[in-house]
Amino acid sequence: MKTLLNLRALVLALGMAAVSVHAQDAFKIGLILPMTGQQATTGKQIEAAARLFMAQNGDKVAGRKVELIIKDDGGIPDAAKRIAQELVVNDKVGVLGGFGLTPLALATAPIATQSKTPMVVMAAATSIITEASPYIVRTSFTLAQCSVAMGDWAPKNGIKRVVTLVSDYGPGIDAERFFKERFLLNSGQVIESLRVPLRNPDFAPFLQKVRDLKPDALFVFVPSGAGAAVMKQFLERGMDKAGIKLIGTGDLTDDDQLNDMGEGTLGVVTSHHYSAMHPSVVNKKFVEAFKKANKGMRPNFMAVGGYDGMRVIYEALKNTKGGQGGGDALLAAMKGQIFESPRGQIFIDAQTRDIVQNIYLRRVEKKDGELYNVEFDVIKEVKDPGKTK
Ligand code: DHB
Repeated sequence: MKTLLNLRALVLALGMAAVSVHAQDAFKIGLILPMTGQQATTGKQIEAAARLFMAQNGDKVAGRKVELIIKDDGGIPDAAKRIAQELVVNDKVGVLGGFGLTPLALATAPIATQSKTPMVVMAAATSIITEASPYIVRTSFTLAQCSVAMGDWAPKNGIKRVVTLVSDYGPGIDAERFFKERFLLNSGQVIESLRVPLRNPDFAPFLQKVRDLKPDALFVFVPSGAGAAVMKQFLERGMDKAGIKLIGTGDLTDDDQLNDMGEGTLGVVTSHHYSAMHPSVVNKKFVEAFKKANKGMRPNFMAVGGYDGMRVIYEALKNTKGGQGGGDALLAAMKGQIFESPRGQIFIDAQTRDIVQNIYLRRVEKKDGELYNVEFDVIKEVKDPGKTK
C-alpha cells in the first residue's frame, strides 16, 4: 500500500514537473517568408511588421514567452513545405504564418492539416487558399474582394472597353475572372484578356498589344513588387497620352514602390484594402512606428497583413491561456476575432476563416511631397466573393 502511494506521489510529481516545464517553454511562431528572390520585399515587409508588433506588445502572452522564428522559402513551394515540416516536427512551433505567394500557401496546407497546426496566411490572396486546409486563417485579402469593387467603379466612370492583364497564376486568374464578371454585369466589355508569366515577366509585347487595341482602360493585377515595371513600360510607351487609363487592384500602386514610380502614376485609380494614407488614428500611429523602426520604410499592404496576423495569434494565445488545448483550441480562438486594424475594422469569419474587410477606391495623389494612394470611396465589410462553398 505504501509503495503504491509512493508510486502515485511519484507519478503526480513527474506530471507536475512536465506541466511546469511546459509552462516555461516558449510558444513558437514560425513565419515562412520569401526573404530572397522576386518576392523578397513581401518577406521584408512582413518580418518588419511582425517584429514591430512584438516590440509594441511584448514577448510574453498570458505568462508564456513567445518566440518568433523566421525562415526563408525563397519563393519556392517545395521549400516552404519542407520548412513547415521542420518547424512543426523539430522546432514544435504552435502556429505557422507568412506565405508570400499562393503556391507557397497551397504547398504548406497539408502540413497544417496533418499536424493540426493553425496556419495564418498573411500575404497570399487567391480565394481557394482557405479551403485548402481547415487550419488556415487569412489576414491578407482576396483578389476577388478588390476586383469586384473595380468592376463596379469603372463603368460608372466612363470606362466601357477594357483589356485585362494579369500574372498567370491563382490571384491573377481570380482578378481577371471577378473583374470581368462584375464589369460585364454592368454592361462593360472586356475586349482582350492577357496573362503574363509570374517569373521574370517581360511586359513589353503585352503592352504593345494593348496600345494597338486602344481600350478605354487597362486593368492590371501583378503581385507586390512587380508594379513598378508595368508602370514604367506603360508610361514609356506613352499609353497614358494615347488616352488609355490604367486601373487595377492596389498591388499595382504598391506603397512600397509608389514614390519610386514617379509622377506618371498621378491619377491612377485602384481598389484595395490598405493604403499607408488611410486616415485613422490607428493607422497614423502604425505608419509612424513602422517607419521609425525601419529607417523610413513605408509599410505596404503586406506589412498590415503580417501585423494583423500577429495580433490574431496573440489574441488566440491570450484566450487559451498561453496555448492550452493545442492547435484546435488556438484555431477556435482565432475564428470570429474582430478588431480595428490600420486598414479599418476587420473580422475573421468563423465559417470561412477568411477576412471580412472594407475595400477602398483610391487615386494616386501627391501629399506633402510624396505619392500616396488617397482613398475616395469605400465598400464596407466585403466578404470574399470567391468562395466555392
Ligand atoms: C499574391 C501575391 C502578391 O504579392 C500579391 O500582391 C497578391 C497576391 C499571391 O500570390 O497570392
